[in-house]
Amino acid sequence: MFDSSLLQPINTFLQVQTPQSWVEKAQEPENLSVVLTDHLICELKAAQSAMFLIRRYAVDEQSGQALLQWLKPYEDFVYRNKGDAAMLSANGRLSKTMLPKSNSLYGQELIDKMVLLIKEELHHFCQVLEIMHEYNIEYKNVPSSRYAKGLLKHVRTYEPQALVDKLICGAYIEARSCERFAMLAPHVDEKLGQFYVSLLRSEARHFEDYLALAQKIANEDISERVAFFGQAEALLISEPDEDFKFHSGRPVVQQNAYA
Ligand SMILES: [Fe+2]
Ligand SMILES: [Fe+2]
Repeated sequence: MFDSSLLQPINTFLQVQTPQSWVEKAQEPENLSVVLTDHLICELKAAQSAMFLIRRYAVDEQSGQALLQWLKPYEDFVYRNKGDAAMLSANGRLSKTMLPKSNSLYGQELIDKMVLLIKEELHHFCQVLEIMHEYNIEYKNVPSSRYAKGLLKHVRTYEPQALVDKLICGAYIEARSCERFAMLAPHVDEKLGQFYVSLLRSEARHFEDYLALAQKIANEDISERVAFFGQAEALLISEPDEDFKFHSGRPVVQQNAYA
């Protein structure tokens, strides 16, 4: 169904595999709506975190404003129920060239990789919205899962370690998404399965870009820090989780009170 060598680095990086019980729950037709809606919001969140990183660390004020304007229609749709799919897919690309701030230590590479990532995530966003339309799922906001917050709470508070940690978290989020798309693809209907497979290549590259940037910016061996976040991530994935979402943990089996 897809080139399995793509997943090999992802599966080596992740410390645990998604529990089978999550895959079973995610393929139930009554959960399609929450899986796709949460996926849609995750695509925006991926674009927002990349935007946050370059606004905070790399670009000048004017470039930062252009980035905010670029994402605004998607945020209006998700958080304020404004606009529609047609308007979003017609939304312009980022026209301004991103300029580094004069004192940026991280430079052009961070900007180039993150701008490309934002473009791709916004494209995925429009694709998910189109798929939702095809399955007659109307968008309604759903609260985020514990996953990203559970990772980001371990980010150190001083630089450049804070940036390194955020990039490692980014790598885990991308890697887990990639793994879940691959796990779900064979178990959902063909059209959706093909869509998930089509996302694998860019999500695998996003994982690698985040990890390479973390390594470069740290300027020291980051393997211990990667292992630390790997363990935190593995717990979020394997521990029981009542809130079923795209990145949730092991689903809690609802006990029948009369059993
Ligand atoms: Fe994406
Ligand atoms: Fe991604």
